[in-house]
Amino acid sequence: MNPRIILFDTTLRDGEQSPGVALDLKQKVEIGKALVELGIDVIEAGFPITSPGDFEAVKTIAKEVKGATIAALARANQKDIEVAWEAVKYSDSPRIHTFIATSDIHLKYKLKKTREQVLELTEQAVKYAKSLCPDVEFSAEDATRSDWDYLASVVLVAVKAGATTINIPDTVGYTVPQEYYNLIKFLVEKLCKEGYEEELKTGKLRLSVHCHNDLGLAVANSVSAILAGATQIEGTINGIGERAGNAALEEIIMILKTRKDFFEKELGYTPELNVNTRKIVPISQLVSKYTGMIVQPNKAIVGANAFAHESGIHQHGIICERSTYEIIDPAEVGWTGSAIVLGKHSGRHAIGFKLRSRGWNFDDKVLTRIFEKFRHEIKDVLKKIDEEYVEGILLDLFLEREYRYSLVASQVISVCSGSLKPFAQIEIEDRKEGRKVSIGLGVGPIDAAYKAAAEALGYSFDKESGKKYIKLIDFSISALTGGTSAEGVCGVIIENEKGIRTAGLGRDGDIVIASIKALLKALNRLEAFEEKGEFLKNQVLSLKEE
Ligand code: KIV
Ligand code: ZN
Repeated sequence: MNPRIILFDTTLRDGEQSPGVALDLKQKVEIGKALVELGIDVIEAGFPITSPGDFEAVKTIAKEVKGATIAALARANQKDIEVAWEAVKYSDSPRIHTFIATSDIHLKYKLKKTREQVLELTEQAVKYAKSLCPDVEFSAEDATRSDWDYLASVVLVAVKAGATTINIPDTVGYTVPQEYYNLIKFLVEKLCKEGYEEELKTGKLRLSVHCHNDLGLAVANSVSAILAGATQIEGTINGIGERAGNAALEEIIMILKTRKDFFEKELGYTPELNVNTRKIVPISQLVSKYTGMIVQPNKAIVGANAFAHESGIHQHGIICERSTYEIIDPAEVGWTGSAIVLGKHSGRHAIGFKLRSRGWNFDDKVLTRIFEKFRHEIKDVLKKIDEEYVEGILLDLFLEREYRYSLVASQVISVCSGSLKPFAQIEIEDRKEGRKVSIGLGVGPIDAAYKAAAEALGYSFDKESGKKYIKLIDFSISALTGGTSAEGVCGVIIENEKGIRTAGLGRDGDIVIASIKALLKALNRLEAFEEKGEFLKNQVLSLKEE
């Protein structure tokens, strides 16, 4: 029998050691429960000796988070181990994780101890931990910069003293995949020679790895170690942790799953995991929210762009057959929504796909016209192209003659002092009801202008006003050309009470006027869509020959 791979998560301990991160008790418990839902086997809840807060957190997690082993960290001394046990003993499956450094650098400058003394401390610490708790993990800190033979003798002492998991940390992120592979293999062979082959095979004894990411190799090193015989992998969600962080567990999970074929071939058995991969994105977002550590958009698996296809060729491939450019189904890791994002590289296929998935039906000529307008009017203007802008082109093609409003005149005064506020007066031509004029005050010139325009047309951005409510969903301004006289372009997305969203673009040398034009365009499209949108959606749209 070959053991399954054990996932050891240290988001709450090593992850919390990330600069600037401080989780409160409630957040730690919530993350702990989410880790269980994901299928993590061992949760390192904290380092109880370091503070009363850490002690309480480990104790509470041990009591409240069920379904995983809960580990508490302790240096290799009696006091640390005693306190760790006092905190973690409430778990149904507690683990004491004790560690001491084994590299000569650490022995000389940090511990100020000889190799013999560290061997002794290892034995005493593991024996003491074992007398309290059946599940003991021992870590040889800075293992990858330690003398291999000495490291092997420490490992053997720890195993003989009762440790059932031996962790070989790359504490400073120094090793490289081939070297780490060789080290783990070397230790596996040593243990086998000493008669522990059966224990390693059945998982009664495990070699564990814990990699830091200083050279960006934490995940690659961990994967190498699995190939060499490690059966416990330590890491954190989103790879957070000291300095450059730890190995990202979500990446390791998906590597093992996606390349199962390769690992089966190399290992001669399937490295099974007990994970619900659909929980990966939710837990990544939870950890990011609570730690305040933003996930970089291009981060594998959980980054916002990890499954976003922008280039025309890729979008075409994905629409025809997902596996052309995707090795993982985004839904499998918990992503919802479409992987096709519109951008300046998007092609006809993506535009067509987006509009069709919004319920529109049209012939090829319509798509050609929409794509032309997309290329000339939108693609280089907006940084982020929401679908509403493309839908807006389609609405213009079929409903422009229904549009009611156009800007006649505007006056905006925004240089104020004291208690006076920016002021706007707007005159709008309403094709159905004639000219309308209104005024508005706001915190800034655009706010004042938007209030005046909304007031003139019977709308309000205030839900409680009793008027037709519209919400501003997105607003952006950019310069089309360089220099102070650049033409400004404003993009606006609004939503009415029924949840209908439309977008508008406005251009002008004056950004306030560009903003008013964008709002009027969005309102024109909103009203036209409300009146005729569903009717149009029930037919195949085509354009008359010109
Ligand atoms: O990086 C490290 O060596 C550690 C140990 C305490 C396991 O975090
Ligand atoms: Zn660490």
